[in-house]
Amino acid sequence: MPKATLESKLPNVGTSIFTEMSGLAVQTGAINLSQGFPEFEAPEFLKNVVNRAINQGKNQYSPSPGASDLLSEIAKLIKKQYDFSVNAANMVTVTSGATEALFVALQSIVVADDEVIIFDPAYDSYEPAVELAGGKCIHIPLLEPDYSIDWQLVAKKINSKTKAIVINTPHNPTGTLLNQQDLQNLQQIVLDHNLYLISDEVYEFITFDGQRHESVLRYPDLFERSFVISSFGKTFHCTGWKMGYCVAPEALTKEFRKIHQYVTFCSPTPFQVGIAEMLGEDSGHINELSSFYEAKRDILSNALAKSRFKILPSKGTYFLLIDYSNISDLNDRDFCNWLTKEIGVATIPLSPFYQTDPNSKVIRLCFAKNENTLTEAASRLCNL
Ligand SMILES: Cc1ncc(COP(=O)(O)O)c(C=O)c1O
Repeated sequence: MPKATLESKLPNVGTSIFTEMSGLAVQTGAINLSQGFPEFEAPEFLKNVVNRAINQGKNQYSPSPGASDLLSEIAKLIKKQYDFSVNAANMVTVTSGATEALFVALQSIVVADDEVIIFDPAYDSYEPAVELAGGKCIHIPLLEPDYSIDWQLVAKKINSKTKAIVINTPHNPTGTLLNQQDLQNLQQIVLDHNLYLISDEVYEFITFDGQRHESVLRYPDLFERSFVISSFGKTFHCTGWKMGYCVAPEALTKEFRKIHQYVTFCSPTPFQVGIAEMLGEDSGHINELSSFYEAKRDILSNALAKSRFKILPSKGTYFLLIDYSNISDLNDRDFCNWLTKEIGVATIPLSPFYQTDPNSKVIRLCFAKNENTLTEAASRLCNL
């Protein structure tokens, strides 16, 4: 019997760099600062209410858009954080992680031959979602050294095929934030050209040095053409639960929900019940998240201060970029492999986040780790 073959719909996609580096970390016993997941537990209260929901039999399907208590708690959170009112019943949808929300939002708007602008370095799930919908990503590199957006270049790239722009703030992997001027430039371009916006805000509650997160939910005119996406995994240290949500105007939500119902139908009910209770509890967890991570950023960057790495500013997320050009001539992938095997610290190279390798000698460290892990990793890096 001839073996079945299949023409790949994603011929350029291989194993993700996160899987590759985490795998190498396990194999070599290296400290894993590569994949972006917290080393600490979700809040006790949240774990307890999820367990209780399971034990009380809340184990069947939720309504496809999300449990109504959770939808209304999300709307309350948005009102509190951004002073913006959304109608929970027809503008908020609970999804299985931000990944599902990104995928569904892109399927909702992209048709064959559409172009979608993304900024490199870009999170890896955007491009496959655009390609599966028949579209094509137009990659615009962020400007080094501060990884800012060249809005004039964005305006130049827009043509009759351009359908949408994807932004991510706070930004993975660079730890940068878009500012008010960026949002105003973005709004102008989106509205002038009738584009759609996918705003990936999964690190919305993790910003440092008193800087405010410029959510699209603060810009009502821009919101009219936007899907705003967040992740409870990042907010409540439970990335493995894959819980997220999408906020969009009613007409966009309607299309989004049509697709969502055939992707997952709904996200796990006990997590929805638990997260709704956690949000309702108003425990202070969200308000304290920025200072919690800022302390970790400072532990890592202070411990690396005497190393030969150059530390780049991290204004949000739980990532820190470091430049190793004083240490090695290796390219970033080879350097990360070497660092994992020989020095015992797993990190992530930046080039896989680019369409065209910028050949910069910059790698990403995740500081969502306990103090001991961060200081031990830093002391190994200081030996170089
Ligand atoms: C920028 C960005 N977007 C989306 C996601 C996916 O979030 P989730 O785990 O909720 O699917 C991540 C996770 O690392 C991320 O860093």
